[in-house]
Amino acid sequence: MNSAEYFNHLARTRRSVFPEQYEPGKKVDDDIIKEILINATWAPNHGQAEPWQFMVFTGEGLKKLASFQSELYKQEAGDNFKESAYLKLRERPLKASHVIAIGMKRTTVKNIPEVEDIAAVACAVQNMYLSLTAYGLGGYWTTGGVTYNERAKPFFGLGKNDRLMGFFYIGYVAVPSPAAKRRPLDQKVSWVNE
Ligand SMILES: Cc1cc2nc3c(=O)[nH]c(=O)nc-3n(C[C@H](O)[C@H](O)[C@H](O)COP(=O)(O)O)c2cc1C
Repeated sequence: MNSAEYFNHLARTRRSVFPEQYEPGKKVDDDIIKEILINATWAPNHGQAEPWQFMVFTGEGLKKLASFQSELYKQEAGDNFKESAYLKLRERPLKASHVIAIGMKRTTVKNIPEVEDIAAVACAVQNMYLSLTAYGLGGYWTTGGVTYNERAKPFFGLGKNDRLMGFFYIGYVAVPSPAAKRRPLDQKVSWVNE
């Protein structure tokens, strides 16, 4: 396989792999996580602003994330409190080897629109997804839990103008995700060539 064929393979076999599918207790080497994060920061970004901020939770740190997000939910849920939602927030991070909080640090250079900072971070996350696939690991991006809760921001080192864009879960794959489908290209692409 040449490098283009290999990349086609990576891009097309990348799948979201969820925490329940990870090998329990098997930790990914931190050095691999660092390589994945370096790849994330090679994503395109307007103005070379690098509008990303990542916080990596692993080992005992996963318990801190689990406790922070479940307790914040409990404090705020009021009459809508659901035990199942609380337990999910408390238990899911512990199924992962690493969870990376994905932050967008708002650029202050060149009047770059916010949507472009968000787009750059999404490109970084795709680099993480593809890197995981190359390493034979599993993971996924979730925007669940406390992602859109303003009160969660300081815990992740984010200010008022920044955004928490979710969490990237990583683990060794015990149960692979099924093959996926995409709609045919002609439903999504038009060509202008004359
Ligand atoms: C911005 C974004 C947010 C996502 N949030 C969630 C989520 O909260 N929960 C979830 O199960 N999957 C989430 N996903 C993963 C999608 O469900 C997944 O990418 C989709 O099902 C396609 O599957 P694939 O990644 O295997 O191609 C998210 C994906 C993106 C790009």
